[in-house]
Amino acid sequence: MRIPCSGCANRKWKAQRSTSIFLVFVSMFWDQALAQVLNNDIVCLQGLKSQLKSTDGTLFSNWTGSNFPCNSSSPSSYRGIECSNSRVQTIQLPGLGLTGSLSPNLSACANLLKLDLSENSLTGSLPLQLGLLGNIVTMNLSYNSLSGAIPQELENCTYLSVIDLAHNQLSGAIPEGLASLQKLQTFDVSYNNLNGAVPTGLANTSNGAPRFNSSSFEGNSGLYGYPLPAANNVHGLSVAAIVGLGFGSGLLSLILSFTAVCLWLRVTEQRNAAEEGKISQLMPDYD
Ligand SMILES: *[C@@H]1O[C@H](CO)[C@@H](O)[C@H](O)[C@H]1NC(C)=O
Ligand SMILES: *[C@@H]1O[C@H](CO)[C@@H](O)[C@H](O)[C@H]1NC(C)=O
Ligand SMILES: *[C@@H]1O[C@H](CO)[C@@H](O)[C@H](O)[C@H]1NC(C)=O
Ligand SMILES: *[C@@H]1O[C@H](CO)[C@@H](O)[C@H](O)[C@H]1NC(C)=O
Ligand SMILES: *[C@@H]1O[C@H](CO)[C@@H](O)[C@H](O)[C@H]1NC(C)=O
Ligand SMILES: *[C@@H]1O[C@H](CO)[C@@H](O)[C@H](O)[C@H]1NC(C)=O
Ligand SMILES: *[C@@H]1O[C@H](CO)[C@@H](O)[C@H](O)[C@H]1NC(C)=O
Repeated sequence: MRIPCSGCANRKWKAQRSTSIFLVFVSMFWDQALAQVLNNDIVCLQGLKSQLKSTDGTLFSNWTGSNFPCNSSSPSSYRGIECSNSRVQTIQLPGLGLTGSLSPNLSACANLLKLDLSENSLTGSLPLQLGLLGNIVTMNLSYNSLSGAIPQELENCTYLSVIDLAHNQLSGAIPEGLASLQKLQTFDVSYNNLNGAVPTGLANTSNGAPRFNSSSFEGNSGLYGYPLPAANNVHGLSVAAIVGLGFGSGLLSLILSFTAVCLWLRVTEQRNAAEEGKISQLMPDYD
């Protein structure tokens, strides 16, 4: 016989509650651990240094831990790095002939506002971790040889006002989510290998007013749609080709069926003539 258990519901609830409290603690600990790994300017700058090479070889030579530039209020001792409130705020090293790739550890510069590594010779892809730079305002990586996709994770960088990725070898589609970046004032992905449709929300605002013009998108042979001109985009051509093909095959089938009907008529005519011949042979002569 089962004894109804009056405290069961209560006990179950308590168990659930303690499990969820436990989970909250675990996730708090996890978040903190993650924050400690990610929110660390030294990890960020050492990561940057470890994957880049400067042509003159001296640029990074004094980027050592003990020289970390943001401890004091004196001007930064790392070239191209500016600090604020003891945190790295700007990484600005354009046109220095840097080679190598972007470290995913850049995301550890949690207070970074500006990343400008334009006009270098960077290769490799854009780390997805750039999407963790929650305060970044300006990202200029134009005039390099970066490849791979534009990470859709960038849609999480709420304060992005400038995205300049022009003149690289980026491929794939432009992530639609970038259209949701409300502060975006400059968006340039021209002269890459991007393809697909220009996301509607980047071409037009939600009111239907133009947002970014064709200059932002030109020089990508696989990219199509407004605001790119229809005449020199691949999609326009392929539509013309499809129409042409349809028209051509329609004409061909018309000609074929016309020929078939003609042949059929001719055959029946001949057969009729033959039948008539037979009949006239069978007919007695009434001469
Ligand atoms: C990135 O940071 C992690 C954690 O500190 C470290 O283990 C790894 O070696 C770093 N990678 C680079 C490329 O610096
Ligand atoms: C700057 O701070 C880092 C990390 O807190 C420390 O390792 C380094 O020794 C400090 N350097 C100076 C010059 O205070
Ligand atoms: C590190 O090198 C830069 C030049 O690249 C120089 O301006 C800076 O003063 C140097 N910093 C230290 C601490 O030597
Ligand atoms: C990005 O950098 C390039 C080269 O340094 C520069 O010409 C361009 O104006 C910059 N883009 C923006 C939006 O400031
Ligand atoms: C953006 O951040 C949210 C919340 O942290 C996360 O759930 C989402 O997956 C992120 N989006 C992308 C594209 O990474
Ligand atoms: C954007 O707006 C223009 C007119 O300003 C319109 O011609 C075009 O069709 C719109 N494009 C999209 C994708 O909504
Ligand atoms: C696109 O807009 C920019 C300013 O946002 C302007 O300088 C440029 O001339 C425009 N290009 C075209 C093709 O309209």
